[in-house]
Amino acid sequence: MSQVAVFETVKAMREAVAAWHAAGEKVALVPTMGALHEGHIALVTEAQKHARRVIVSIFVNPTQFAPHEDFKKYPRTFDSDRAQLEAANADAIYFPAVEEMYPPGFASRVLLLGPAAVGLEDRFRPTHFEGVATVCCKLFTQSKADFAVFGEKDYQQLKVVTRMAHDLDLGIEIVPLATFRETDGLAMSSRNRYLSADERALAPTLHRVMQALAARIRNDDPLFQAVADAQTEIITAGFELDYLEARHADTLAPVTSRADGPIRLLIAARLGATRLIDNIGV
Ligand code: PAF
Repeated sequence: MSQVAVFETVKAMREAVAAWHAAGEKVALVPTMGALHEGHIALVTEAQKHARRVIVSIFVNPTQFAPHEDFKKYPRTFDSDRAQLEAANADAIYFPAVEEMYPPGFASRVLLLGPAAVGLEDRFRPTHFEGVATVCCKLFTQSKADFAVFGEKDYQQLKVVTRMAHDLDLGIEIVPLATFRETDGLAMSSRNRYLSADERALAPTLHRVMQALAARIRNDDPLFQAVADAQTEIITAGFELDYLEARHADTLAPVTSRADGPIRLLIAARLGATRLIDNIGV
């Protein structure tokens, strides 16, 4: 276990990164909003495979929350986060205040097309990806990291950020990592802590139904009917379903059969006040 440095300013982080780069060391960034769990630590472990130095950013980014969403109550657990990152031998935490990220007068946004505008999360959270992309763009240019590691759990986010990093020549390689799951299949998420005991017991249904759907598609069952049956099963189980769709795994364009390309199944559903998202490959 090592002492993890905490940088609160761009300047402090850049000085450290410049020294690491001058010593020939690669730097990987793991962007997070804190409330860390084992899934985040898996991202740190992956980052350590790519770079000698790992920075974890902890910033609950106000611009990616709509006014009715959970920005104010989003869990903030810095002491526990720091302890976990020390145990994981991360090198540094970037922990900027909102004013450091968005100084007075801040007036710019990254405008997105492509995977940000395919009618999945963007249909339900129209300003979300603009906020994610803007903060990620800033995190990448602020840190000058060589790699950034993103979990596949937020699959559309992963595609949006990968596209943006490429399109804007940000000079950073986006590394994806498979979703980390609880033993019952529920995808790990900081928001799982909002679930009541009954909701928590029901939540793994999402993954179970998606796995059965993937098996039907692999079996060449007609795609439209298989997806419709899975949607019904989710609703009957007690979820409010935002979407459950089969999309092209790279472009996120709609698909009508396996012949349309590699398929990714993506779901968003609500249990009480908690919105859960998940996805799997077919
Ligand atoms: O996935 C998240 O935790 C956030 O969307 C991210 C990438 C840290 C940007 O705020």
